[in-house]
Amino acid sequence: MVTDGLRLADILAALSVATDLGMGQEPEKAVRSCLVATHLARASDLPEHAVGDVFYTALLQHLGCTAPAHEWSYLFGDGLATTPQAERTDGANRREALALLMSAGRGTGVRRFRHLARTVAAGEQGSRTVLLSVCEVGARMSERLGLGEGVRLGLRHSLERWDGNGEAYGLAAEDIALPARFTALATQAVIFDRLGGPDAALEMARRRAGGWFDPAVTTTFERVGPDLLRRLAETDVWAAVLAAEPQPARQIAPARLDEVARVFADMVDLLTPFTLGHSSGVAELAAAAAERLRLPVGSVDRLRVAALLHDLGRVAIAGVVWEKPRALSSTEWEQVRLHPYYTERILVRSAILEPLARIAGMHHERQDGSGYHHGASAAQIPAEARLLAVADAYQAMTQDRPYRAGLAPLAAVEQIEAAARAGWFDPECTRAVIEAAGQHPTQVRSAWPAGLSEREVDVLRLMARGLSNRQIAETLVISSRTAEHHVQHIYTKIGASTRAAAAMFAMEHGLLR
Ligand SMILES: [Fe+2]
Repeated sequence: MVTDGLRLADILAALSVATDLGMGQEPEKAVRSCLVATHLARASDLPEHAVGDVFYTALLQHLGCTAPAHEWSYLFGDGLATTPQAERTDGANRREALALLMSAGRGTGVRRFRHLARTVAAGEQGSRTVLLSVCEVGARMSERLGLGEGVRLGLRHSLERWDGNGEAYGLAAEDIALPARFTALATQAVIFDRLGGPDAALEMARRRAGGWFDPAVTTTFERVGPDLLRRLAETDVWAAVLAAEPQPARQIAPARLDEVARVFADMVDLLTPFTLGHSSGVAELAAAAAERLRLPVGSVDRLRVAALLHDLGRVAIAGVVWEKPRALSSTEWEQVRLHPYYTERILVRSAILEPLARIAGMHHERQDGSGYHHGASAAQIPAEARLLAVADAYQAMTQDRPYRAGLAPLAAVEQIEAAARAGWFDPECTRAVIEAAGQHPTQVRSAWPAGLSEREVDVLRLMARGLSNRQIAETLVISSRTAEHHVQHIYTKIGASTRAAAAMFAMEHGLLR
């Protein structure tokens, strides 16, 4: 590991690719939006510290992208197919809004009708909850990344509109944080530039000035935007984004890389209620097993961070695939096989994370060459990746999945040993992971976070997994009224109002392991 400070923008620009993929967008969209927003902020003569807030807000604008995935799949079916259209839709424009509604549950027949009916039934309140979860989770994650109040508000206000018709908080004009106003226009400009070039972006910006966008930011865009988009088409945006960051560039101590990786681990795990806490659980287990095998400290550190980020590529595959309770179709299975490839490609974008790319990207390889996506065999798989493969498989077995219940530790051990005997896993790594799994001390807590009571933590765990108040009541053998009462108290105590934000809080405080 590098011992000097680590350039935060290098890490976050790469990780923003995961959020692009999570929005069904091309893997440079956030970086391009960041360049446009930063340029507009400078052309508006904002002081450099304020430009810095615009820079990080635009770069991380989709930090909350996985928050609504579970609810979105229920309403719209394949979220990744509908998200790009939703993102560029002007909700106040009736024609655009109707076109979006009609795209719910693309496809034909019963499935399409079912999704359409659900969307209508959920109504404004349903779609508001989806939008609020994006803002709440994005803001919470930016806090964990230590990006400051400007960026936190920028992400919290990311779905507001100048005219006050935004569906999240309904703020208007100057009440909307400045970074959010620059980011909104820059993002749409990048989308429309890709669809129809700089002229299409300019036409869109003029049409939405005073409605969606801040008129002053639009005027600046009219002046400098089209030329900027033309220049960007010829630019290496990865080098440009690092050059565009206001000085002094933000750095983190190497020891903080874990915390940054943990935020993105939780972002990925939020994709489905089944995977909450998976990545951090794998990281803990893999690192403990590596210590038992006396791997050098540098290897253990690399493995821990690679394990936190191993499933980043999952966000590129629709939530409906991960939540499917039946066998996957061959097309779906092909998509699933791609997720470690995406993980690898995201990590190589960063000079700091690149050394982890191969380890993380090989977490589904098998010793006998039957794994994916490389189809590598024993000698080609580094020791860290072999450990990661076993730790990932063990942790996943102990969690519920849509198609099976989680296994008790003993049953999971049996299955892992059988897989090792079948030639999938390295025997030494298998032993180390099993021993490490048996070493988990039961957590003894003197107090729960945010003043939660023991009972409220039980309720929070079930809420995070998407159970309704009635299901929580049945599980805990309490009345529905009591369950509802607990849920309201929890939301107040943790300062959130959506399931996704509650799930994020639970992961952040390690309440799901
Ligand atoms: Fe995976």
